[in-house]
Amino acid sequence: MNKSRLLALLFVFSFLSKNAMAGEGMWLPFLLKSLNEKEMKSMGMKMNAEDIYSVNKGSLKDAIGHFNGGCTSEIISDQGLLLTNHHCGFGFIQRYSTLEKNYIKEGFWAMDRNEEIPCEGLFVTLISRMEDVTEKVMQGIKKKTKEADRQSIIDKNINALIASLPKEDYEKVTVKPFFKGNQYIAIVTVTYNDIRMVGAPPESIGAFGKDTDNWVWPRHSGDFALFRIYADENNLPAEYSANNKPFKPKHFLPVSLDGVEEGDFTLVFGFPGRTNEYLPSSAVKQIKDVLDPARISIRAAALKIMDNYMRSDDKIKLQYASKFARIANYWKKWQGEVLGLNKSKAVEKKQAYEEKFMKQVNQKRKSKKKYANLLSDTERLYGEIEEVALAREYYNEIFFRNVELFRIANSLTRMLDTYDANGEEAFYKQKARLDGALSGFYKNYNVDIDRDVFGALIEKYHKEIPVTYHPELLKEEMLKTGGDYSILANRIFKYSILTDETQLKKFLETPPGMLRQALSVDHGMKLAMAFSEMYKEQISPQYNELNEQIESNNRTYLKAQMEMFPDGRFYPDANSTLRVAYGNVEGYEPKDAVRYHNKTYLKGIVEKHVDGDYEFDAPDKLLELYESKDFGEYAEDGKLPVNFIGSNHTTGGNSGSPAIDAHGNLIGLNFDRAWEGTMSDINYDRSICRNIMVDIRYVLFIVDKFAGAKHLVDEMKLVHPKK
Ligand code: ARG
Ligand code: GLU
Repeated sequence: MNKSRLLALLFVFSFLSKNAMAGEGMWLPFLLKSLNEKEMKSMGMKMNAEDIYSVNKGSLKDAIGHFNGGCTSEIISDQGLLLTNHHCGFGFIQRYSTLEKNYIKEGFWAMDRNEEIPCEGLFVTLISRMEDVTEKVMQGIKKKTKEADRQSIIDKNINALIASLPKEDYEKVTVKPFFKGNQYIAIVTVTYNDIRMVGAPPESIGAFGKDTDNWVWPRHSGDFALFRIYADENNLPAEYSANNKPFKPKHFLPVSLDGVEEGDFTLVFGFPGRTNEYLPSSAVKQIKDVLDPARISIRAAALKIMDNYMRSDDKIKLQYASKFARIANYWKKWQGEVLGLNKSKAVEKKQAYEEKFMKQVNQKRKSKKKYANLLSDTERLYGEIEEVALAREYYNEIFFRNVELFRIANSLTRMLDTYDANGEEAFYKQKARLDGALSGFYKNYNVDIDRDVFGALIEKYHKEIPVTYHPELLKEEMLKTGGDYSILANRIFKYSILTDETQLKKFLETPPGMLRQALSVDHGMKLAMAFSEMYKEQISPQYNELNEQIESNNRTYLKAQMEMFPDGRFYPDANSTLRVAYGNVEGYEPKDAVRYHNKTYLKGIVEKHVDGDYEFDAPDKLLELYESKDFGEYAEDGKLPVNFIGSNHTTGGNSGSPAIDAHGNLIGLNFDRAWEGTMSDINYDRSICRNIMVDIRYVLFIVDKFAGAKHLVDEMKLVHPKK
């Protein structure tokens, strides 16, 4: 055997069974006792599983809230004080800012309870309990049940189950699939709707380093904001009322002043959104070689245009800063993901694993009968779906993300559909809401940018997506404009009232019964409708049919993996439910000869600071505090810690999650992952996958020394677990 062959084999052996390594996994909090406690203790944890999740007593889980359905937040005082990321609260910080009181720029600090700002629409959900209900959900499903019938049986069982589970009036039950539908869990929740804004640093601290530093270590961001949960006089959830009282939680997190060092145990508790750790190699290959590159190139085209305009005009820069950040966030993440998948040889690893899997399968007659063709079948299906999946990706990116004209058209279409389905009253209700949204939208709309983005993306679509997926109208328009995309863009935008707030609003006064007809002559609306018709006829039926088979195969594959590797430790993919990740504080080696430390300090902000820069201009007050070394009790060895990293397995949705020490105290606030490891959604690798957290002492320092809001720190319970 030659040497490279041997090396390849060794490489393969190190990944032979998909045993989750320490650090890997987003675990179900109610199963920690049986699956994880022992390992967690071996990694340094001093608590018991019961301290993390219990239905009988207050436990860590009672302090963890799903923030507005997306991010995570945690309660850090007996007065319902809530901590999350600046970028999670940003929408509200922006909404309640005015030119005179620009909280984005200046920060916001409520100096007493009366100054806290009620955030309309914001909600926080706590978890009462979780329970495995697989057996009940699967009742009546036989081996021979057809895929199409399977889901309707499951839906019926779920509805019956939800109606029968005991709960309080203010609680809600949902049932969600885990392990790609091999397991079902009921989740009982309580949602609080009176949430008020308490504090936020200026953006120059909360988002220091902006897009340049996003997804990158070393980092220096104070990405935090404070809110408060209010409840009625019985401490129960209630709509906003001036009479509501700060919520008294069953548990809140004490805050550790002792900091972290290499090797310390860390636990991240939160609501990770979506991961895909059990895909076959054919799927990973498609993501890496086809879908991610498509998304990246579409967004790159849009971002380049925005960036050019933003650089030339300060007003545009303000208008587009938040949109740019949103589009750039995943544009950048996908690039890191592709790099990481390549570098970690994710496809080859999965292939080697599949070989091992097939060997197991072939050893027994029974499994051979069931699974012999599973993977080859799935690979064929991924081949078949590729073209339509790519078209779908383009469609989604263009229609729902990047071209604003189409986003407007989509919301108008939804309003027209509401009228058709539910009549006039429902229509006017929706119209009132849309009117408000439109005002906000046009405040930040620039028709030149949108027209150029439209032209560039239509060109990409036209050139790269097969003609089967071209709406007739697009073909006609291309003929009319002699195949010139910028002429096409000019024509569509010139003859569309969707680009003009006043005209559109006037137009929307048309009686609802005549509105669809009236709008259908608008060029922008017409093209949008033609595209969505095409989508309904050409893309979604084909895609759904194949995808249903793929999902069914992947469900079977996951079940088969568990059967073939009974000693493997499997954790369910993220699905926005409450999970525990655990690891250690750890630096890493991103490349040859480079070693990253696990922690950054205020000194690094001073190093990165550039006067007047829109990403790296630190506030004067912060620079002064650095000079005077006025760090209070928040420093270690005379230096003020800012961010640190660890090997906790996290993803989008874990933003705002608490980082908790071995004893259950708050040590940090999760907000990002490091560049080399963003492929952890598909292929976690402990050697390079790191989550990034704000050191809690930096949060306290900013609140106390920078903002002068010491009363908020006084409300917390500060502890010294290491002393
Ligand atoms: N990458 C982090 C996350 O996925 C931070 C995003 C906010 N920052 C930004 N520059 N867009 O949410
Ligand atoms: N910033 C991400 C969020 O909003 C967390 C980073 C990640 O994807 O891990 O949840």
